[in-house]
Amino acid sequence: MLTRYKKNLEKIAMGLLSFMPEEKDVKKLQQTIKEYETNPDWHLYLWKEEDVLGAIGVRIEDEINAVIQHISVNPSHRNLGIGKKMVNAVTKLYEEKYSVCADEMTEGFYNKCGKNTDSDEQI
Ligand SMILES: CC(C)(COP(=O)(O)OP(=O)(O)OC[C@H]1O[C@@H](n2cnc3c(N)ncnc32)[C@H](O)[C@@H]1OP(=O)(O)O)[C@@H](O)C(=O)NCCC(=O)NCCS
Repeated sequence: MLTRYKKNLEKIAMGLLSFMPEEKDVKKLQQTIKEYETNPDWHLYLWKEEDVLGAIGVRIEDEINAVIQHISVNPSHRNLGIGKKMVNAVTKLYEEKYSVCADEMTEGFYNKCGKNTDSDEQI
């Protein structure tokens, strides 16, 4: 299930976010997590089953748009649908109030999650 990030999960959240290609640098990663902790428009969620297996972030851009901007799943638990479940859960949370979209880094996967068939490569 999707749970809101809390400071006591900082290490595990940073571990997950570090799988994002643009978050490899520790300084950048620390900046990102700080932004999620302090900026009221940045919301980080973790996907928890028995353990925390994934992370997904949303930035409220304005009164209209909520932008998904980080999606990461523990490498040992990939290709099991967790990424898609996180995207769907976050979309459900925000779609009543916002138009939900994804940033450049996540839009390939985000668009894939909106499709019903895995083999459909059309945009
Ligand atoms: C991207 C990521 C979150 C997917 O998580 P996941 O739990 O494995 O995803 P799901 O099981 O729901 O979906 C798997 C499908 O997504 C595809 N996929 C993986 N990464 C993708 C990407 N960057 N763009 C488009 N599709 C992608 C897989 O090839 C697989 O396709 P298939 O079902 O046709 O075989 C995970 O691979 C990850 O953490 N990657 C590292 C972080 C990253 O690069 N994030 C940026 C992209 S969101």
